[in-house]
Amino acid sequence: MTPREAAELLKKGELVVFPTETVYGIGAIASSDEAVQKIFQSKGRPQHNPLILHISELRQLDSLVENIPEDAHRLIAAFWPGPLTICFRKKKTVSDLVTAGLPTVCIRMPDHPVAQELLRAVGEAVAAPSANLSGKPSSTRFQDAVRQLTQSGVSFLDGGDTQYGLESTVVDCSGDHVEVLRPGIISAEDLSQVIGKPVRTQIRHEDITSPGQLLNHYAPSGTLTVLYGPRSWRREWIHEHVKKGEAFVGFVGDLEQLSDVQHSLRVAENEEDLKGYAATLYGFLNWCDEEGADSIVLELPEGPHPLIEALLNRLEKASGGNVIRPSDAS
Ligand code: TXA
Ligand code: MG
Repeated sequence: MTPREAAELLKKGELVVFPTETVYGIGAIASSDEAVQKIFQSKGRPQHNPLILHISELRQLDSLVENIPEDAHRLIAAFWPGPLTICFRKKKTVSDLVTAGLPTVCIRMPDHPVAQELLRAVGEAVAAPSANLSGKPSSTRFQDAVRQLTQSGVSFLDGGDTQYGLESTVVDCSGDHVEVLRPGIISAEDLSQVIGKPVRTQIRHEDITSPGQLLNHYAPSGTLTVLYGPRSWRREWIHEHVKKGEAFVGFVGDLEQLSDVQHSLRVAENEEDLKGYAATLYGFLNWCDEEGADSIVLELPEGPHPLIEALLNRLEKASGGNVIRPSDAS
């Protein structure tokens, strides 16, 4: 299928899975409640979790948002098209189904040639969450989106593996303070440099404004244990705890000390390669599900890195909080 053919299906109110530079999305035309409702059904997504809108041209914003604050203007100039979703006060024209009744709407302009061609051909906003069953790992490989979402009425646009592998950063520009609602490839530091003031990042549980943050997310079917610490400690932990053939291991760097492990996949070339790690992460978790893994162990290199906050955010959820550090080891 071509992006133009997919656009025709969207215009008819059907669902299309399409690639973006972050993860695959499952889209419906935002102006049709009937079409948007199909997204919630196909994913099994709770109705109270709002969707983000995807656009291809800036002028589309005018019909969707009340105003574009100065900070948002700067962020748009710096990061669109790209992996940044911005939360605005919405116009009445945006359906409550899309925003789950919130007075705000989250919008992004993807930087992926297939997504752009698709959105240009549609000519209006497309609502699209990540292309996965609710709660399951997002899809960064075409095959994972197909495996999770094949059902009648859903069409698929193949764009190969996605570039970044983590969902966009979500930043709220609708209130008095600019605040990161979901960490991603673009860090809080990147944002605050552009707007020239600090950006809030603290996501307190009692103060959640992004409903998606409350849900169980990104989780494979098996039990996931994340090892977050120095390499020597991680390898010792695996050596001690992983019996031959028992767990599926996502490892970083070489295979030294892992010769006993039967099922393993390299998630990063080396300790510094968190970009590669992010790009491979969901593919690894989906592979574990595909193979029916009951027990999964995943290494995560420690240390300061612009991507570490986003990765810990996803892995805390994917593992149900089962991120082990050296001091926790027993
Ligand atoms: O990279 C991405 O953002 C991908 C690709 C497909 O664009 N999309 C994506 O959508 O990750 P989704 O639905 O999986 O995540 C959107 C997040 C959810 O946590 C949702 O709760 C939050 O954005 N969100 C959407 N609208 C919101 C709003 N009005 N206020 C606060 N949070 C909102
Ligand atoms: Mg998602």
